[in-house]
Amino acid sequence: PRPTMRVLRGPLVRFLDDPGEDDQPAPGSLSYLQDGALWLEDGRVRAVGSYQDISPQLPAGIEVVDYTGKLMMPGFIDSHVHYVQLDILASYGRQLLDWLNDYTFPEECRFAQRAHADAVAEAFLDEQLRAGTTTAQVFCSSHPQSVDAFFTAAQRRGLRMLAGKVLMDRNAPAALTDTVTSGVADSERLIADWHGKDRLGYSLTPRFAPTSTAAQLEATGAILRAAPDLHLQTHLAENAGEIAWVAELFPEERDYLGVYERYGLVGPTSTFAHGIHLDQAMRERLAGAGANIAFCPTSNLFLGSGLFDRLGCREVGLATSLASDVGGGTDLCGFATLKAAYQVGQLLGQPLTAWQGFYRLTLGNARALHLDRHIGALQPGQEADIVVLDPAATPLLARRTARIGKTANLESSSLGELLFALMMLGDDRSVFATWAGGECLHSRE
Ligand code: GUN
Ligand code: ZN
Repeated sequence: PRPTMRVLRGPLVRFLDDPGEDDQPAPGSLSYLQDGALWLEDGRVRAVGSYQDISPQLPAGIEVVDYTGKLMMPGFIDSHVHYVQLDILASYGRQLLDWLNDYTFPEECRFAQRAHADAVAEAFLDEQLRAGTTTAQVFCSSHPQSVDAFFTAAQRRGLRMLAGKVLMDRNAPAALTDTVTSGVADSERLIADWHGKDRLGYSLTPRFAPTSTAAQLEATGAILRAAPDLHLQTHLAENAGEIAWVAELFPEERDYLGVYERYGLVGPTSTFAHGIHLDQAMRERLAGAGANIAFCPTSNLFLGSGLFDRLGCREVGLATSLASDVGGGTDLCGFATLKAAYQVGQLLGQPLTAWQGFYRLTLGNARALHLDRHIGALQPGQEADIVVLDPAATPLLARRTARIGKTANLESSSLGELLFALMMLGDDRSVFATWAGGECLHSRE
């Protein structure tokens, strides 16, 4: 057998569709194999099924990696995160605008130095892989070299990543601001160098309405119109002070979302982080454009921004994704995001089932980002990004999950209990291994 061919054997859970909000997953939305097999070849899934069905087809001598007693899933996806904020995680900072001025902007100034950007990009990707995250949509800083550093590190590891240079031509320190002309030129150069190379894609990144002039937003919309396969990421309606500031800066627009609509920034590949303070009519406008909102629960709680109404979005068909928003968020790990999302949901009377939670971290986020052709469900032909969870990673988890049953012979109801326990108690210790592009990039063994 070719050296790039191998089989991962063990319990395997993946979503084929949205499981819905009920206690039990919608029929046909979930695939669970007690003794599953993922046959990998050249970075992709060649076949997936029960080990019994797959094993007769396997060439003699193929490497079999045995994950019996663990739980395999598609790699986690983080739809909104700032790699340049890794080193200001957990900076005591009151609310958004003070936190930006006191910690975030000074930190981002360091990314003028390529060597600093290189070092942080490597550390960030190490941490993401330790947390089971194999794909993310990433804010860099306003320095184009911060994007080169990130994409270089991601490409070397064979990861699927979206990222972009922050566009910001006002209301920030001079060391961080670009101009309409330089912002366009730098973005276009980065798109030419990186977009569509290997597994990388470019996301246009106007930081948020207060830090761009109308002319910069207009120029960004023009790039997107000319190349609709690009992504776009920004922030929307996170915080009361921010919203009041946007109303002052753009008095002619009907609301915050209207600013982005005016310049053609609201489309199917657009991700708006937060979107907490929106009414149903604004949610309908976003849904109509096919955009998605990145729900960032650890950030929303840390910065005191508010409680995100997930079901209000669902009601009007507005896609939501899940995200860490590090460094406003407090944890890169998807389990922490799920735990906080559950707690926010409890306060709003809309608790998050484990089915819905793990669907969002995997196929749901892939769909929201229009990456589900490539990732999110481990279908044959798709890219082999896999997280291997250890339900007995710590003595406490081992006690808790022993109560539920052995992963090797779970019923659907106990699988739901196991996933929920992981969602509440899991952390990077529960990530036993992370595979991306058919290679093992992190292992606790
Ligand atoms: N709004 C504008 N910039 C930022 C940022 O860096 N983090 C968060 N959470 N919100 C923002
Ligand atoms: Zn953010």
